[in-house]
Amino acid sequence: MEIKRNSKCWCGSGKKYKQCHEEFDQKLFALARQGKIVPERKLIKNEKDILGIKKSAAINDGVLDRIEKEIHVGMSTEEIDQLVYQYTVQHGAIPAPLNYEGFPKSVCTSINHEVCHGIPSKDVILKDGDIVNVDVSTIFHGYYSDASRMFMIGNVSEEARKLVQVTKECLQIGIEAVVPWGHVGDIGAAIMEHAHKNGYSVVRVFAGHGVGNAFHEDPIVSHVGVKGTGMVLAPGMMITIEPMINAGEYPVYVDKENGWTSYTKDGSLSAQWEHTILITEKGVEIIAK
Ligand code: MF3
Ligand code: CO
Repeated sequence: MEIKRNSKCWCGSGKKYKQCHEEFDQKLFALARQGKIVPERKLIKNEKDILGIKKSAAINDGVLDRIEKEIHVGMSTEEIDQLVYQYTVQHGAIPAPLNYEGFPKSVCTSINHEVCHGIPSKDVILKDGDIVNVDVSTIFHGYYSDASRMFMIGNVSEEARKLVQVTKECLQIGIEAVVPWGHVGDIGAAIMEHAHKNGYSVVRVFAGHGVGNAFHEDPIVSHVGVKGTGMVLAPGMMITIEPMINAGEYPVYVDKENGWTSYTKDGSLSAQWEHTILITEKGVEIIAK
């Protein structure tokens, strides 16, 4: 490598290369020589980035905790949007969805057979038995975090309850499949197995993603995959895992009128849970939940 061992590391830590990413680079170069897909350096977060993203994530978690307390039968999704906007700006942050590629609101609210990217509206009222995903993303001092949770409104059918639970397990199992120097495909393989075992399907057209210095970075984190394939997961990478699991078949369609909201083609229920995670030298750290 061109970097001298005593000069400053490329990651911006200010440490000497030999005391920072020298060993990391040797490992990565060896994997690249074996033909593996390895992350670019810009995907490797340094301590300063990680601290910044954690601050963003603390606000993001706070938003979701607040929604968890307030959500109820009869509430409109517009009210959820206002809650997200107010909490976020009061904490000096920006809701990442707002005006993102023309998205008109501060949060995505996706109910029942809506898969993702539901747009909050005063005309959409949460009713008894609904399952709703609230997907919150925050920008704080330029750092991005992203997480979503399911909420069960009033008395929810056993069928819907099970889908929500199994989808949560899919996220958990996806996270457990992450090992430093493993592969992105390990995540999708684990999630797919658990979903299929329960008679469910995994949405294919939407995926998790790198996150932190931008809303959506490489790699694409598919929730279907083959173990041992795809990009190497190196320490310092930050990604989301956000499986969308359908009770029926996986095909979806996008709303023609608003260009955003996606629904299951067969009208079956869909659920999603999302965390932002950091790959560390020892394993995984959950950053936003
Ligand atoms: N939060 C979504 C994700 O997980 C992003 C949705 S884009 C938006 O990637 F504009 F709809 F917010
Ligand atoms: Co995301």
